[in-house]
Amino acid sequence: MEKSNNNYPLEIKDVEPEVAEMLMKYFTGEHTGFVRVGSKGYFLPHKFKQEAWNIYSMKIRPSDVFVASYPRSGTTWTQELVWMVVNDLDYERSNATPLTERYPFLEFSVYVHPVMKERFRQENSDSERKLKLLEYVSQPGTEQLVNAPSPRFVKTHLPLSLLPPTLLDTAKVIYVARDPRDVVVSFYHLNKSMRTQGYIGDFKTYWRFFISDLHHWTPYFEHLKESWEKRNHPNMLFLFYEELSKDLPAAVRRVSKFFGKQYSEEQLARLCEHLSIESFKQNKSVNYDVMSELGILQAGTENFIRKGKAGGWRDYFDEEMAAEAEQWISDNLRDTDMRFPHLQQ
Ligand code: A3P
Repeated sequence: MEKSNNNYPLEIKDVEPEVAEMLMKYFTGEHTGFVRVGSKGYFLPHKFKQEAWNIYSMKIRPSDVFVASYPRSGTTWTQELVWMVVNDLDYERSNATPLTERYPFLEFSVYVHPVMKERFRQENSDSERKLKLLEYVSQPGTEQLVNAPSPRFVKTHLPLSLLPPTLLDTAKVIYVARDPRDVVVSFYHLNKSMRTQGYIGDFKTYWRFFISDLHHWTPYFEHLKESWEKRNHPNMLFLFYEELSKDLPAAVRRVSKFFGKQYSEEQLARLCEHLSIESFKQNKSVNYDVMSELGILQAGTENFIRKGKAGGWRDYFDEEMAAEAEQWISDNLRDTDMRFPHLQQ
């Protein structure tokens, strides 16, 4: 047992060395090990120890806007939606400023192991501009945010319990959730493409890690439930990917109402066009071009913005896995009234 800082109230435990060794054979971007944090045992890279307290104790401003989720749940989609709604549909600024600059990613730095950072540095050593970009994306989010002008927009995949305890009573949080079967397919592709993760195994093995809570930011359902329990808090808006997918204008109206904004039907239609998967694929401001440019996202693999459909998991699950997933989902929904909209009877 180890604590990142004497004041940090949550327990941080190292993942057992044999388990960590085994995982690092599959996830080649990590070179030290992993930890489990807090009573739910959230799984994170070893480097989280360095940032745990800085994140937990960061000063929240009333104008802050946090977009939180388990990875691959529609975070980017929600980020752009929220940013546009709050910023009076400022297309010019949105197009000119990459989402990564508009929304510091709070804990991304803990995913950039020093060994990988050195590798990226060498590969980009011919360009001052790229080296600067690399420094920026791997800088702790708390440092990027400390002097940022208000309102600050923050991206995080951390569950509420690892974020500042004052967050929800002070600032706005938009949480987005997605069917875990689509999440796991999407995250599998990203773990293969992102060299910070560098996954080299097959999908079935990956799925087993995911449901055994041996993967980043798991346990999955605990993550969702923490926010679901707060869904009626006036500062929390809980969205589902499937809800955006089914009726984007309705989701935009929900977000607008949450921020006390009103837009005309024409404005709404234009925004929905801007937020469509086809537009996103062409939009350099939202498609994580910077990660490809720096070689963090491997060339020739799946893009950050991929299929953008609900239900694509069926192509990846065999019968055994589908049955296992159904059981796993129903076991985890037993003690909650949270239901994925498309799974509701
Ligand atoms: P798929 O890999 O299933 O296509 P996140 O932003 O949380 O990492 O989530 C990424 C997922 O959201 C990816 O899912 C991505 O394609 C999808 N996505 C991103 N932008 C989208 C959009 N405008 N419309 C629909 N899906 C989108």
